[in-house]
Amino acid sequence: MLPFDSLISANQLTPEIISQITAVTDKMADDIDRYGRINLLEDKVVALLFFEPSSRTMLSFQSAAQRLKAGMVFAQGAASTSIEKGESLEDTIRMVEAYSDIIVMRHPWHGSAETAARTSTVPFINAGDGGNEHPTQSLIDAYTIMRHKGRLDDLNVVFGFDSLQSRSIHSLTTLLSQYPNNRFTFTGPEELMPTSKMLESMNDMGVECSVADSVDLNDGYDIFYVNRLQQERFADPVLFEKNRKKYRLTRKQVEGSDCLILDPLPRIDEIDTDVDDLPNALYFKQASYGVPVRMALLSLLLSKHNTP
Ligand code: NCD
Repeated sequence: MLPFDSLISANQLTPEIISQITAVTDKMADDIDRYGRINLLEDKVVALLFFEPSSRTMLSFQSAAQRLKAGMVFAQGAASTSIEKGESLEDTIRMVEAYSDIIVMRHPWHGSAETAARTSTVPFINAGDGGNEHPTQSLIDAYTIMRHKGRLDDLNVVFGFDSLQSRSIHSLTTLLSQYPNNRFTFTGPEELMPTSKMLESMNDMGVECSVADSVDLNDGYDIFYVNRLQQERFADPVLFEKNRKKYRLTRKQVEGSDCLILDPLPRIDEIDTDVDDLPNALYFKQASYGVPVRMALLSLLLSKHNTP
C-alpha cells in the first residue's frame, strides 16, 4: 500500500516510500527470474495512453503488466484517439477509467498529469508530462543508484546536458533533494542550465548546487546523470543545432574513473558508443530495471502487494 492513489511528481517519493518500492522491486526481480510471470494482477486491467513517443517507458510498462498477468488497453499517439477530433483530456480520462483499473499516461503538456489524476477515479501514473516531470524514471534511477552505490544520500552528482528541459533530471533532482548531504553540479550549454527558481528550491532542501562549463570525472563525482538535449522542446531550433554535437561524454573522460554513468535514454549525441563496454556505463542496465520497478509500482498502487 502507498499513501497516495496517483503518482504525479517525484516530490511524493519520500525516502520511506522509496525504501518500500525498492524492497518490492527486489522481490519482483526475483520473481521474474524464478517464475517469469506471476498471478498478482490477473483480475486487473491497465490502461496505457501514450500521446508522445516512447520506447522504454511504454514497453517496460507493457512488460510489467504482462509479467503480473494484468490485461491491457492501449492507445498510442493522439491520432489513435478522439483527442485528434478535439475531445478534452478530462473526457478521455472519464472514458478510460471505465475501461481499466489504473491509467498510465504520457502527454506533451506540462501539468497534464495533474489534470488527468484530478479527473480520474482510478489510480493514475504520470509517465511524463511534457518537460515537467517523469517520476517513474526517477524511481528507476534511484533503484539503479541503490543497487550500484548502496545509498541515496551523501552523493556528488553531475547533471548534463539539458537540465532546463529534461523531465528526467527534474524528477531525479527532486527525489535526491529529500536525502541529506547530496551535492549537484550542472553542466552543459549556458542556456540549458536550471533556472534560478529551480536552483533555489534545491538549495531550500539543503542541496549544495553549482554550475560548471565542464567537469573532470576523477574529481570525486559519484554519478554523472546525462540526458540528451531535448530537441522537441526547443523554441529555437538554432540553439539545439548549435549545441547538439558540442556536449558528449567520451571514452577518454569516463575510462578509469569510479563515476557511474546513467542516462534515461534514448542516447542521441550525448555519449559516445565506445563508452558502452566500460564497467561504469550503467545505462542499459538502468533501462532493464524499468520492468521490476514498474511491476512494484503497479502492484503497490493496486494494493495487492505486501512488502516482503
Ligand atoms: C526520457 C523521457 O521520455 O523523458 N526517456 C525515457 O522515458 N526513458 C528521456 C528522453 O526522452 O530524453
